[in-house]
Amino acid sequence: KGFLQTLGRVTLVTIIAATGTFYYVTQKDRHPGTQLPFDPEKKTLVILGSGWAATSLLKGLDTTHYNTIVVSPKNFFLFTPLLPSVAVGTLNARSILQPTRYITRFKNRQVSVIEAEAKVVDPINKTVTFSDDSEIQGKVSSTTIPYDYLVYAVGAETQTFGIPGVKKHACFMKELHDAERMQRQFMDCVESAAFPGQSDQEIDRLLHMVVVGGGPTGVELSGELHDFLEDDLKSWYPELASRIRITLVEALPSVLPMFSKKLIDYTESTFKESKIDILTKTMVKEVKDKSVVLQMPDKSIAEVPCGMVVWAAGNTGRQVTRDLMAKLPEEQTNKRGITVDDHLMMKGSNGSIFAVGDCTASSYAPTAQVASQQGAYLARIFALVAKKDNLEAQLVKLEGTTEPEKQAEADRIRKQIDKIKLKPFHYSHQGSLAYIGSEKAVADLPIFGHEWASGGVATYLFWRSAYLSTLFSLRNRTLVASDWLRVKLFGRDVSRD
Ligand code: FAD
Ligand code: NAI
Repeated sequence: KGFLQTLGRVTLVTIIAATGTFYYVTQKDRHPGTQLPFDPEKKTLVILGSGWAATSLLKGLDTTHYNTIVVSPKNFFLFTPLLPSVAVGTLNARSILQPTRYITRFKNRQVSVIEAEAKVVDPINKTVTFSDDSEIQGKVSSTTIPYDYLVYAVGAETQTFGIPGVKKHACFMKELHDAERMQRQFMDCVESAAFPGQSDQEIDRLLHMVVVGGGPTGVELSGELHDFLEDDLKSWYPELASRIRITLVEALPSVLPMFSKKLIDYTESTFKESKIDILTKTMVKEVKDKSVVLQMPDKSIAEVPCGMVVWAAGNTGRQVTRDLMAKLPEEQTNKRGITVDDHLMMKGSNGSIFAVGDCTASSYAPTAQVASQQGAYLARIFALVAKKDNLEAQLVKLEGTTEPEKQAEADRIRKQIDKIKLKPFHYSHQGSLAYIGSEKAVADLPIFGHEWASGGVATYLFWRSAYLSTLFSLRNRTLVASDWLRVKLFGRDVSRD
């Protein structure tokens, strides 16, 4: 009895302490203190974008040394790896967003966050022109500002290859509004199929979902759609659920080409069990209102009726990036994106523009892992650059002096400057992970120099814990964990707004 009483008290104290700590941390995160104002003596650092690379930079940046300005059409960071979960209602959209001000308001010196889209970057005069293209605008909605340093982190957009009908009829899976649009369209197809008097042929068309692109986005989305179908739609639309079909179309001979052969086979067999059809060596040639036109492996053309097409066929550079590159034609010749040196400096920009993430053309895959490591690297680089700039400013003041003491001081500063060495960027690959539905995931992990391939339910639990810990804030972690619990207890919502 005594043991149970002690255990009870320890448990109670632990719960109170944990709740208190949690409350303290969350409240601390809600009340930023005062910040240093902008200092005209400091250099201006403009960051374009609020995605993986920019946010990772902002987290690590010591803003004491710079007047920092962030310009992005989104005033938030989007945790893209969990976007397919939003598309089927496993997660609420807000759970994977982090407002940029939740980060910048905790910095030493104030950071200006501007919701606007960069339109023109002038690398010669070192200016950036941006405008507010949102629905509501004030009297001023476009301006040009100068920069000393520019971090170019605007990401990429979805590649359509100019294929007819893609932009008009397909849903994308890149931005938050893409996932929300897909969710609405998917439920619209299901509700329209349930409309009285619908012919069998029309029901089959409406309930046929085509996902284009067998990269990780297309595979994860197909897996999430399958879960929605199995876990929820079977209960609420019993007469229709068995007729819903998911087809994944991939131009290459296999899905997930970046994963090991074993995991490709595992994914393909899991999809087979889940009744997700995979069409490999098949290329989408056109997307129509009610169908997709496919070029089959034997080069024949087939028109397949469908209710919804989700386009996940990879990335391409943004127009603003192409325009910027065109201003440095000699150095910027790579069609895939911006060419940078070992320190992520844009070639031809005379050390004033750093480019990171999906907008660059490098030997790395366009992933969040690469972008966030590049952002963190730049935060370290900017600390060194500030130190160097500061020493150089001191040196300028001493230039031309004939006093021996001051000359000695200048020599000492020169030596300090020489010691500042900017190490080149080095990417450390932490492995590849993808969710494939049915509570299974695949992972290629580098362990002690060896690639370790794993797939199944245990890998799925690892996938969940890896992403939960990678989320940027305690707030996001709490929201995502509670969404997972909500879905476990009550299922996904099938209402359509
Ligand atoms: P982004 O994160 O796309 O950020 C670009 C930012 O620039 C955005 O804030 C945007 O609003 C802003 N912007 C756009 N235009 C302008 C402009 N003109 N001016 C100013 N700002 C602008 N990678 C992984 O490693 N693991 C994963 O599990 C994973 N899952 C993914 C799932 C999905 C559905 C998607 C779409 C991608 C996934 N990725 C994943 C890839 C990863 O999201 C990208 O590689 C990563 O977002 C690149 O970071 P970035 O900062 O370069 O670009
Ligand atoms: P992707 O470029 O990896 O895959 C797109 C696929 O679409 C390609 O395999 C291509 O062959 C196919 N395709 C292109 N045009 C086609 C057509 N007309 N018809 C049929 N198939 C066509 O793009 P994805 O999946 O959006 O990924 C983009 C980047 O984000 C990649 O670097 C990826 O590694 C990363 N990512 C990583 C994730 C993870 O690690 N879990 C999840 C999602 C994305």
